[in-house]
Amino acid sequence: MELFDDMLTRKSVRSYTDQQISEEQLQKILIAASLAPVGKGKSGRPHLTIVQDPQLLKELGGQAGPERNVIYGAPTLIIVSHPKVDDAPGIAAMNVACVMENMTLAATDLGLGSIYLYGSMRMLSRNPELMQKLGIPEGNEPLSALGVGYGTEAPAVCKEMKKVLTENRV
Ligand SMILES: Cc1cc2nc3c(=O)[nH]c(=O)nc-3n(C[C@H](O)[C@H](O)[C@H](O)COP(=O)(O)O)c2cc1C
Repeated sequence: MELFDDMLTRKSVRSYTDQQISEEQLQKILIAASLAPVGKGKSGRPHLTIVQDPQLLKELGGQAGPERNVIYGAPTLIIVSHPKVDDAPGIAAMNVACVMENMTLAATDLGLGSIYLYGSMRMLSRNPELMQKLGIPEGNEPLSALGVGYGTEAPAVCKEMKKVLTENRV
């Protein structure tokens, strides 16, 4: 797909089939992640933790209790963590967001559904035991995660190309 078609097609997907993504699809998403720009790279870079183990996915999804799955049943979760960078406020979150956007557009291009997850990562950051089980590097903070898989509904081919952000020009 063309880049603009990917951007027009991408939508948050909050319901997934059980079908796992292929290894080839996963590798392409990880390459897209690696191609993202990084600020202050010498002070630390985003780290990816790929979760496909059903038990760990269940634990992550159930962090808010049994009545709602906070990762929406996605069969693959890619957690993006980052070391603390004390001399550049905000840079860790910005680096992670660049990685996330590359991954979500790559997933769309591959015909997959995806969801940008923040809330469940806030919960994870308060759970050192689960962080350790996931092998998140010591000192890294899980800032965002991409849930990815096959959505239960086919993506809308296109949405209107309109501006939704405020802007000014000087
Ligand atoms: C930084 C960031 C954090 C987000 N965190 C969550 C989240 O924790 N849970 C969730 O369901 N959606 C989350 N979203 C998805 C947004 O709700 C979604 O992108 C927005 O409503 C626009 O919808 P669209 O992605 O379908 O265009 C997040 C998106 C961003 C960019």
